[in-house]
Amino acid sequence: MASNQPIGIFDSGVGGLSILKEVKETLPLESFIFLADQDHVPYGVKTKEELEDLSERITKFLLNYHIKLLVVACNTATCYVLDFLRLNFDISIIGVVPAVKPASEITVNGKIAVMSTPATAESNYLSKLVKNNALNQKVLKVSCDGLEESVEELNIGQISNLLDKYTLQIAKFGADVVVLGCTHYPFLKKDIRKRLSTRVKIIDSGKAIAKRVKTILKKEKKLATGKSKDIYFTTADPLNFSKVASALLKYKITGQKAYI
Ligand code: DGL
Repeated sequence: MASNQPIGIFDSGVGGLSILKEVKETLPLESFIFLADQDHVPYGVKTKEELEDLSERITKFLLNYHIKLLVVACNTATCYVLDFLRLNFDISIIGVVPAVKPASEITVNGKIAVMSTPATAESNYLSKLVKNNALNQKVLKVSCDGLEESVEELNIGQISNLLDKYTLQIAKFGADVVVLGCTHYPFLKKDIRKRLSTRVKIIDSGKAIAKRVKTILKKEKKLATGKSKDIYFTTADPLNFSKVASALLKYKITGQKAYI
């Protein structure tokens, strides 16, 4: 059995495209409906109730396209509303969380830095993740205020200034593993890399999510066999979305307006 229904992916903005990229690489026959909720970015300043409302509306929107699985490609949303979504929707839902567990397995000096949005850094979810997986290690939560927004705007100067500041904190702390705990940051991996010592490993959750999607679809006998087709939506300006998404993915993306 197979299913050529699409996979739904959403984020507050273009960051979720880093997850889409990894899943597409692992599963090239799959089709995707991607939604960037740029009208409400950043999610980090929203209350849990607001995030529940937005994620519920987005999930309903994506279900209209008969998605067979949902990826919440946003660490912040996952930290606050994953349980809520799983309770309310009868569909497999995968959330993206900072890769603390893999980091704890590869650190040599026991010092891990987690770069994330301020909301993820302050979340109980991240504290629990650290407690359960890296209790005997030292974890620095680097609250990267403004970084996600500068990726949304492709503001190169601001990205550079902010990365100088945040990587300095990491270097002072002496981490040998850096976790990219926001889906916007994998697009900055090279820029982060060149600011840190070569012995520092930088990891994100993309490949693990792609693997998980594959495992679930295989188990549910829903892997696609057909020709893939992707649709991209934004809740804000499609022209701006298309420009930024194309620059990040390095191929032409045409976004459409979504009314959630
Ligand atoms: N890309 C989202 C994440 O992974 C950003 C969340 C936000 O908008 O605050 O956390």
